[in-house]
Amino acid sequence: MLTTEKVKINIHQTEKSRLNDLDQNNIVFGKLFSDHMLHADYENGKWGDPEIVPYGNLPMTPAISALHYGQSIFEGMKAYKNEKGEVSLFRPLENQKRINISAERMAMPSIPEELFMEGLKQLVYLDKGWVPDAEGASLYIRPFLIGTDEFIGVKPSDNYRFYIITSPAGKYYNAPVKVLVETNYIRAVEGGVGYIKVSGNYGRSLFPTKLAQQRGYQQIIWTDARNHRYLEESGTMNLMVIIDDVLITPPVGDTILAGITRDSVVTLARDWKMKVQERKISIDEVIEAHKRGTLEEMFGTGTAATIAHISTFGFEGKDYELPSVEGRIFSNRVAQELDNIKRGKTEDKHGWMYKVG
Ligand code: COI
Repeated sequence: MLTTEKVKINIHQTEKSRLNDLDQNNIVFGKLFSDHMLHADYENGKWGDPEIVPYGNLPMTPAISALHYGQSIFEGMKAYKNEKGEVSLFRPLENQKRINISAERMAMPSIPEELFMEGLKQLVYLDKGWVPDAEGASLYIRPFLIGTDEFIGVKPSDNYRFYIITSPAGKYYNAPVKVLVETNYIRAVEGGVGYIKVSGNYGRSLFPTKLAQQRGYQQIIWTDARNHRYLEESGTMNLMVIIDDVLITPPVGDTILAGITRDSVVTLARDWKMKVQERKISIDEVIEAHKRGTLEEMFGTGTAATIAHISTFGFEGKDYELPSVEGRIFSNRVAQELDNIKRGKTEDKHGWMYKVG
């Protein structure tokens, strides 16, 4: 058992590691889970001590409230190995704060910082061997919180369970993506839940994405719910464009997630004295820039992919090609710099890395 001032963590180690199942050269995102997971229960208005146990199935009733009414929120974050074999997390406190923003909006209890951070640190330390060291690889970490009442009346659950599971990850996309600007379906609306990581936001995106894929695109660029004119997110990522050397990204708010990678990219751009505008950007402005030849780069930012270059966007039946990825100065530089920071190859000026051991 591990005891800190406020958190006691019971650790039950697996008797048989599955680490041999991991092929470092062929990692499929989200398929293989490491040996252990963490869980903690919220009952009678308070959190119990977390436990780290062998990865396994959830004990649950078919009436569990998370399944019926969607009290199910999550985070995505990563751990990286440096050349000395030390493991660090990238900006984990931001995930801890954000899961509590999601919890508040979904009428769920907040997760104390010490429980989240200490649990996370111990779990990742225990499964340190699962953090791949190949280029572009990392350990993807999925904290999530679900309502666990056995009750199908519509009300906030009284009981909850917090889990953290982890999964080795390679590159999310192997090539630049072709995206469709969506003007029929919507992802988020003012007053809604677009700014949080609730599972329903992802579920609702699957059908429109499937339709786009049938037309030869890989992802969607979501537009505003009122007029379908302003660009919002790109698939599960924040969106950035560079026009005339200015980095433009839609402002976070009700309909856009405050991405941690988004914030990191904007911070580095400002460090490099690049002009950054966090403002609304319409599809008309992007097409106009494309016509003038000033649309230099377009990419998504997110935890899973870090930077996902966009090669082409489709709008109203026409495809618009962007300049080749090799020649893109900013997105390539920022992807490299983030990787260098995460692997301890460059100075961590902003204190983003959190050492696990
Ligand atoms: C991210 O990249 O930040 C995501 O949320 C993707 C995840 C849902 C797989």
